[in-house]
Amino acid sequence: MEKRGEEEEEDGEEIVCIDRSFFINDDYQLTTFTFGSQVLQLFCLQSASTDFDLTGQLVWPGAKLLNNYISQTPEMLRGCSVIELGSGVGVTGILCSKFCHDVVLTDHNEEVLKILKKNIELHSSSESTGLIAEKLEWGNSHDLNQILERHPEGFDLVLGADICFQQSSIPLLFDTVQQLLCTRDIGHCKFLLAYVSRAKVMDAMVISEAVRHGLLISEVAGSRSVVGNLEGVIYEITLK
Ligand SMILES: C[S@@+](CC[C@H](N)C(=O)[O-])C[C@H]1O[C@@H](n2cnc3c(N)ncnc32)[C@H](O)[C@@H]1O
Repeated sequence: MEKRGEEEEEDGEEIVCIDRSFFINDDYQLTTFTFGSQVLQLFCLQSASTDFDLTGQLVWPGAKLLNNYISQTPEMLRGCSVIELGSGVGVTGILCSKFCHDVVLTDHNEEVLKILKKNIELHSSSESTGLIAEKLEWGNSHDLNQILERHPEGFDLVLGADICFQQSSIPLLFDTVQQLLCTRDIGHCKFLLAYVSRAKVMDAMVISEAVRHGLLISEVAGSRSVVGNLEGVIYEITLK
């Protein structure tokens, strides 16, 4: 018989007969964001409110930090191919597409991928081209290989905004980053990570995982700043 919702079958486990869709809020609002001279409109939620991993339904402070940096340094993107990890609603990748023409936005959550694709559609009719969404779960070689089959030349730039908040996913994130950086010769691909500090243990883990993966990690000069009421910084991460 088909399993319903979060039903558990194991002995001694409580059975909860509530369908997963009950928790999903997809009442997205068209919202305007301004980054320097760039104005973007996107569908997103204004606050997170569910039991499931739907952090990607709204725009996080790290995206604001990274997008302000991108809007001030658009020449960095000219002619570049870009892949974004944990794109959420796509605010960073879509901004990049204003300055370059090959942008792959990724996420692992099916519900988030739906709103990401809707936002890409919203922007594909304007001057932006070359924007696509792909499923990519960090550490999942099958997902990554499928993307690399379609992009055998790899990417010039890997981006991540506010994607370090769950300890167990950080080693997997860096596995994926390392594989992406290795598709290019040293110096030809970098990972820009907009990191927002919420716990000292995570601050240390991001640096130690980068080092454990044989990567160089440094702060982008002048990027350390307050976002919301938290401290953020942009890290540049490259092969050693
Ligand atoms: C806090 S949100 C940030 C979204 C967006 N970058 C922003 O700053 O607004 C984290 C994003 O990472 C995605 N994510 C979390 N764990 C992931 C994993 N293991 N693999 C791929 N994506 C993941 C989530 O689905 C979500 O979209």
